[in-house]
Amino acid sequence: MDIQTSHICNLLSLELIAEYYSVEASLLKQYYTELYDDTVFINALNRKIEDCQPFYSEGLFSRKDIDTVDWFGNQRISLYVLIRLLKPELCVETGVFYGGTTAFILNAISKNKTGRLISIDLPGNNEEQMNYARHSNVGCSEIIPDGLRTGFIVPDYLKDSWELKLDDSREVIPQLVEPVGFFSHDSEHSHDFILSELNLVKAKLSQNATIFADDVNWSNGFLEFCVKEKLYPLFLTDNGKGSLKMRLGMTWMNHPNNGKQEVTGSSTK
Ligand SMILES: C[S@@+](CC[C@H](N)C(=O)[O-])C[C@H]1O[C@@H](n2cnc3c(N)ncnc32)[C@H](O)[C@@H]1O
Repeated sequence: MDIQTSHICNLLSLELIAEYYSVEASLLKQYYTELYDDTVFINALNRKIEDCQPFYSEGLFSRKDIDTVDWFGNQRISLYVLIRLLKPELCVETGVFYGGTTAFILNAISKNKTGRLISIDLPGNNEEQMNYARHSNVGCSEIIPDGLRTGFIVPDYLKDSWELKLDDSREVIPQLVEPVGFFSHDSEHSHDFILSELNLVKAKLSQNATIFADDVNWSNGFLEFCVKEKLYPLFLTDNGKGSLKMRLGMTWMNHPNNGKQEVTGSSTK
Protein backbone atom coordinates (compact mmCIF):
# COMPACT_ATOMS: atom_id res chain seq x y z
CA MET A 1 0.00 0.00 0.00
CA ASP A 2 1.34 3.46 -0.83
CA ILE A 3 1.65 6.14 1.81
CA GLN A 4 -1.24 8.27 0.44
CA THR A 5 -3.59 5.29 0.70
CA SER A 6 -2.32 4.69 4.24
CA HIS A 7 -3.28 8.25 5.08
CA ILE A 8 -6.81 7.71 3.78
CA CYS A 9 -7.10 4.45 5.76
CA ASN A 10 -5.92 6.22 8.91
CA LEU A 11 -8.62 8.87 8.41
CA LEU A 12 -11.28 6.17 7.99
CA SER A 13 -10.06 4.54 11.16
CA LEU A 14 -10.46 7.86 13.03
CA GLU A 15 -14.11 7.92 11.96
CA LEU A 16 -14.62 4.58 13.72
CA ILE A 17 -12.85 5.82 16.85
CA ALA A 18 -15.05 8.96 16.83
CA GLU A 19 -18.18 6.80 16.59
CA TYR A 20 -16.90 4.58 19.43
CA TYR A 21 -16.41 7.56 21.79
CA SER A 22 -19.41 9.51 20.43
CA VAL A 23 -17.28 12.52 19.49
CA GLU A 24 -17.05 14.48 16.25
CA ALA A 25 -14.67 12.89 13.74
CA SER A 26 -13.54 16.40 12.82
CA LEU A 27 -11.95 16.79 16.28
CA LEU A 28 -9.88 13.62 15.82
CA LYS A 29 -8.91 14.67 12.31
CA GLN A 30 -7.77 18.00 13.74
CA TYR A 31 -5.40 16.13 16.10
CA TYR A 32 -4.14 14.06 13.16
CA THR A 33 -3.46 17.24 11.15
CA GLU A 34 -1.65 18.77 14.12
CA LEU A 35 0.58 15.67 14.27
CA TYR A 36 1.02 15.59 10.51
CA ASP A 37 2.16 19.24 10.53
CA ASP A 38 4.49 18.82 13.52
CA THR A 39 7.83 19.42 11.81
CA VAL A 40 9.66 19.73 15.15
CA PHE A 41 8.65 16.14 15.95
CA ILE A 42 9.40 14.68 12.52
CA ASN A 43 12.78 16.46 12.36
CA ALA A 44 13.67 15.15 15.83
CA LEU A 45 12.74 11.59 14.76
CA ASN A 46 14.85 11.96 11.62
CA ARG A 47 17.85 13.11 13.65
CA LYS A 48 17.48 10.10 15.98
CA ILE A 49 17.20 7.73 12.99
CA GLU A 50 20.37 9.18 11.52
CA ASP A 51 22.24 8.86 14.83
CA CYS A 52 21.15 5.23 15.20
CA GLN A 53 21.98 4.08 11.67
CA PRO A 54 25.55 2.99 12.48
CA PHE A 55 24.04 0.54 14.99
CA TYR A 56 20.65 -0.34 13.51
CA SER A 57 19.36 -0.08 9.95
CA GLU A 58 16.23 -2.24 9.82
CA GLY A 59 12.87 -1.03 8.44
CA LEU A 60 12.35 2.69 9.05
CA PHE A 61 15.97 2.99 10.14
CA SER A 62 17.13 2.16 6.63
CA ARG A 63 15.51 5.33 5.28
CA LYS A 64 17.31 8.60 4.60
CA ASP A 65 14.49 10.87 5.59
CA ILE A 66 10.97 10.31 6.92
CA ASP A 67 8.76 12.93 5.28
CA THR A 68 5.50 12.04 7.07
CA VAL A 69 4.36 10.45 10.33
CA ASP A 70 2.29 8.04 8.24
CA TRP A 71 5.39 5.87 7.87
CA PHE A 72 4.84 4.91 11.51
CA GLY A 73 1.51 3.18 10.79
CA ASN A 74 -1.94 3.49 12.24
CA GLN A 75 -0.99 2.14 15.68
CA ARG A 76 1.14 5.19 16.47
CA ILE A 77 -1.25 7.67 14.79
CA SER A 78 -4.23 6.27 16.73
CA LEU A 79 -2.29 6.37 20.01
CA TYR A 80 -1.45 10.04 19.45
CA VAL A 81 -5.02 10.98 18.59
CA LEU A 82 -6.53 8.97 21.47
CA ILE A 83 -4.25 10.53 24.05
CA ARG A 84 -4.98 14.00 22.70
CA LEU A 85 -8.70 13.20 22.99
CA LEU A 86 -8.72 11.49 26.39
CA LYS A 87 -5.97 13.46 28.17
CA PRO A 88 -5.19 10.73 30.72
CA GLU A 89 -3.06 11.67 33.73
CA LEU A 90 -1.15 8.38 33.67
CA CYS A 91 -0.42 6.32 30.56
CA VAL A 92 1.31 2.95 30.85
CA GLU A 93 2.71 1.01 27.91
CA THR A 94 4.37 -2.39 27.66
CA GLY A 95 6.82 -3.10 24.83
CA VAL A 96 9.11 -0.22 23.94
CA PHE A 97 11.91 -1.56 21.73
CA TYR A 98 12.99 1.42 19.56
CA GLY A 99 10.25 3.62 21.05
CA GLY A 100 7.87 4.28 18.15
CA THR A 101 4.76 4.11 20.33
CA THR A 102 6.62 5.85 23.17
CA ALA A 103 7.53 8.86 21.01
CA PHE A 104 3.95 9.33 19.77
CA ILE A 105 2.41 8.96 23.25
CA LEU A 106 4.93 11.41 24.72
CA ASN A 107 4.28 13.90 21.94
CA ALA A 108 0.53 13.79 22.69
CA ILE A 109 1.22 14.22 26.43
CA SER A 110 3.43 17.20 25.67
CA LYS A 111 0.67 18.79 23.52
CA ASN A 112 -1.87 18.08 26.29
CA LYS A 113 0.44 19.90 28.74
CA THR A 114 -0.54 17.32 31.35
CA GLY A 115 0.10 13.63 32.03
CA ARG A 116 3.01 11.23 32.07
CA LEU A 117 4.00 7.90 30.65
CA ILE A 118 5.45 4.82 32.33
CA SER A 119 6.95 2.46 29.73
CA ILE A 120 7.85 -1.13 30.55
CA ASP A 121 10.22 -3.41 28.66
CA LEU A 122 12.63 -6.19 29.47
CA PRO A 123 16.23 -5.17 30.21
CA GLY A 124 17.91 -4.18 26.95
CA ASN A 125 21.41 -5.18 27.86
CA ASN A 126 22.59 -7.97 25.60
CA GLU A 127 23.51 -10.47 28.27
CA GLU A 128 20.49 -9.82 30.44
CA GLN A 129 17.98 -9.78 27.61
CA MET A 130 18.85 -13.27 26.49
CA ASN A 131 17.81 -14.58 29.92
CA TYR A 132 14.19 -13.75 29.26
CA ALA A 133 11.89 -15.87 27.13
CA ARG A 134 10.70 -13.83 24.16
CA HIS A 135 8.03 -14.28 21.56
CA SER A 136 9.50 -16.04 18.53
CA ASN A 137 7.34 -14.12 16.02
CA VAL A 138 8.75 -10.73 16.98
CA GLY A 139 12.27 -11.49 15.75
CA CYS A 140 14.72 -8.59 15.60
CA SER A 141 12.30 -6.13 17.21
CA GLU A 142 13.05 -7.84 20.53
CA ILE A 143 16.79 -7.35 20.84
CA ILE A 144 18.30 -3.91 21.44
CA PRO A 145 21.33 -3.53 19.15
CA ASP A 146 24.75 -2.96 20.73
CA GLY A 147 25.44 0.74 21.20
CA LEU A 148 21.76 1.69 21.63
CA ARG A 149 19.32 1.86 24.52
CA THR A 150 15.63 0.95 24.77
CA GLY A 151 13.53 3.71 23.21
CA PHE A 152 16.35 4.86 20.96
CA ILE A 153 14.12 6.93 18.65
CA VAL A 154 12.46 8.94 21.45
CA PRO A 155 13.28 12.65 20.97
CA ASP A 156 15.12 14.11 23.98
CA TYR A 157 12.79 17.12 24.26
CA LEU A 158 9.89 14.75 25.11
CA LYS A 159 11.60 12.76 27.85
CA ASP A 160 10.62 14.90 30.87
CA SER A 161 7.24 13.15 31.21
CA TRP A 162 8.72 9.69 30.74
CA GLU A 163 9.70 6.92 33.13
CA LEU A 164 11.19 3.70 31.70
CA LYS A 165 11.07 0.55 33.80
CA LEU A 166 13.21 -2.34 32.59
CA ASP A 167 11.66 -5.54 33.90
CA ASP A 168 9.03 -8.10 33.01
CA SER A 169 5.67 -6.30 32.71
CA ARG A 170 4.06 -8.94 34.95
CA GLU A 171 6.42 -7.83 37.73
CA VAL A 172 6.01 -4.08 37.19
CA ILE A 173 2.24 -3.77 36.67
CA PRO A 174 1.30 -5.07 40.16
CA GLN A 175 3.56 -2.39 41.65
CA LEU A 176 1.84 0.55 39.93
CA VAL A 177 0.39 2.91 42.53
CA GLU A 178 -1.62 5.57 40.72
CA PRO A 179 -4.69 4.81 38.58
CA VAL A 180 -3.87 4.05 34.96
CA GLY A 181 -5.97 6.13 32.57
CA PHE A 182 -4.58 4.63 29.37
CA PHE A 183 -2.89 1.27 28.88
CA SER A 184 -1.12 0.25 25.68
CA HIS A 185 -0.03 -3.35 25.15
CA ASP A 186 2.76 -3.97 22.61
CA SER A 187 4.95 -6.54 24.39
CA GLU A 188 4.54 -10.30 24.10
CA HIS A 189 1.46 -11.04 22.02
CA SER A 190 0.85 -14.70 22.82
CA HIS A 191 -2.60 -15.64 24.13
CA ASP A 192 -1.55 -16.39 27.71
CA PHE A 193 0.77 -13.42 28.00
CA ILE A 194 -1.66 -10.74 26.83
CA LEU A 195 -4.32 -12.19 29.10
CA SER A 196 -2.00 -12.15 32.09
CA GLU A 197 -0.99 -8.52 31.39
CA LEU A 198 -4.59 -7.38 30.94
CA ASN A 199 -5.79 -9.25 34.02
CA LEU A 200 -3.04 -7.62 36.09
CA VAL A 201 -3.68 -4.12 34.78
CA LYS A 202 -7.45 -4.47 35.27
CA ALA A 203 -7.09 -3.80 39.00
CA LYS A 204 -5.07 -0.64 38.29
CA LEU A 205 -7.32 1.07 35.74
CA SER A 206 -9.19 4.29 36.44
CA GLN A 207 -12.97 4.17 35.87
CA ASN A 208 -12.65 5.96 32.56
CA ALA A 209 -9.61 4.09 31.25
CA THR A 210 -8.94 2.85 27.73
CA ILE A 211 -6.95 -0.25 26.83
CA PHE A 212 -5.24 -0.30 23.43
CA ALA A 213 -3.43 -3.35 22.07
CA ASP A 214 -1.31 -4.11 19.03
CA ASP A 215 -1.25 -7.35 17.06
CA VAL A 216 -4.48 -8.65 18.58
CA ASN A 217 -4.83 -10.92 15.54
CA TRP A 218 -1.97 -13.10 16.80
CA SER A 219 -4.29 -14.87 19.24
CA ASN A 220 -7.76 -14.69 20.78
CA GLY A 221 -6.34 -13.24 24.02
CA PHE A 222 -7.63 -9.68 23.65
CA LEU A 223 -11.06 -10.78 22.41
CA GLU A 224 -11.31 -13.31 25.23
CA PHE A 225 -10.53 -10.59 27.80
CA CYS A 226 -13.25 -8.34 26.37
CA VAL A 227 -15.82 -11.14 26.29
CA LYS A 228 -15.08 -12.28 29.86
CA GLU A 229 -15.11 -8.72 31.21
CA LYS A 230 -18.15 -7.77 29.09
CA LEU A 231 -16.22 -4.89 27.55
CA TYR A 232 -17.30 -3.59 24.16
CA PRO A 233 -14.28 -3.72 21.83
CA LEU A 234 -13.27 -1.82 18.70
CA PHE A 235 -10.95 -3.42 16.16
CA LEU A 236 -8.94 -1.39 13.68
CA THR A 237 -6.82 -2.21 10.68
CA ASP A 238 -3.20 -1.24 10.30
CA ASN A 239 -1.27 -0.78 7.12
CA GLY A 240 2.10 -0.53 8.85
CA LYS A 241 3.29 -3.89 7.64
CA GLY A 242 2.44 -3.70 3.95
CA SER A 243 -1.21 -4.63 3.71
CA LEU A 244 -4.41 -3.64 5.44
CA LYS A 245 -5.10 -6.15 8.22
CA MET A 246 -7.18 -6.15 11.36
CA ARG A 247 -4.48 -5.67 13.92
CA LEU A 248 -5.36 -3.14 16.63
CA GLY A 249 -7.84 -3.67 19.45
CA MET A 250 -9.15 -1.24 22.00
CA THR A 251 -11.75 -1.06 24.71
CA TRP A 252 -13.03 1.75 26.92
CA MET A 253 -14.19 1.06 30.48
CA ASN A 254 -16.99 3.64 30.17
CA HIS A 255 -18.46 2.52 26.87
CA PRO A 256 -22.27 2.53 27.15
CA ASN A 257 -22.48 -0.92 25.54
CA ASN A 258 -20.30 -2.59 28.19
CA GLY A 259 -22.13 -5.41 29.89
CA LYS A 260 -24.73 -5.55 27.12
CA GLN A 261 -23.01 -7.07 24.17
CA GLU A 262 -23.47 -10.63 23.06
CA VAL A 263 -20.02 -11.37 21.72
CA THR A 264 -19.48 -15.05 21.22
CA GLY A 265 -16.48 -16.83 19.85
CA SER A 266 -14.39 -19.92 20.31
CA SER A 267 -11.21 -19.57 22.29
CA THR A 268 -8.21 -21.08 20.58
CA LYS A 269 -4.69 -20.35 21.62
C1 LIG B 1 7.16 -5.14 19.04
S1 LIG B 1 8.31 -4.62 20.23
C2 LIG B 1 7.63 -3.08 20.77
C3 LIG B 1 7.60 -2.01 19.72
C4 LIG B 1 7.32 -0.62 20.23
N1 LIG B 1 6.04 -0.48 20.87
C5 LIG B 1 7.46 0.41 19.12
O1 LIG B 1 6.46 1.00 18.68
O2 LIG B 1 8.59 0.65 18.69
C6 LIG B 1 7.97 -5.73 21.54
C7 LIG B 1 8.74 -5.44 22.82
O3 LIG B 1 8.14 -6.19 23.88
C8 LIG B 1 9.14 -6.49 24.81
N2 LIG B 1 8.72 -7.58 25.69
C9 LIG B 1 8.64 -8.91 25.40
N3 LIG B 1 8.30 -9.61 26.49
C10 LIG B 1 8.14 -8.70 27.49
C11 LIG B 1 7.81 -8.81 28.88
N4 LIG B 1 7.60 -10.00 29.45
N5 LIG B 1 7.74 -7.68 29.62
C12 LIG B 1 7.97 -6.47 29.06
N6 LIG B 1 8.31 -6.31 27.76
C13 LIG B 1 8.39 -7.40 26.98
C14 LIG B 1 10.34 -6.85 23.94
O4 LIG B 1 11.54 -6.76 24.69
C15 LIG B 1 10.21 -5.86 22.79
O5 LIG B 1 11.04 -4.74 23.00
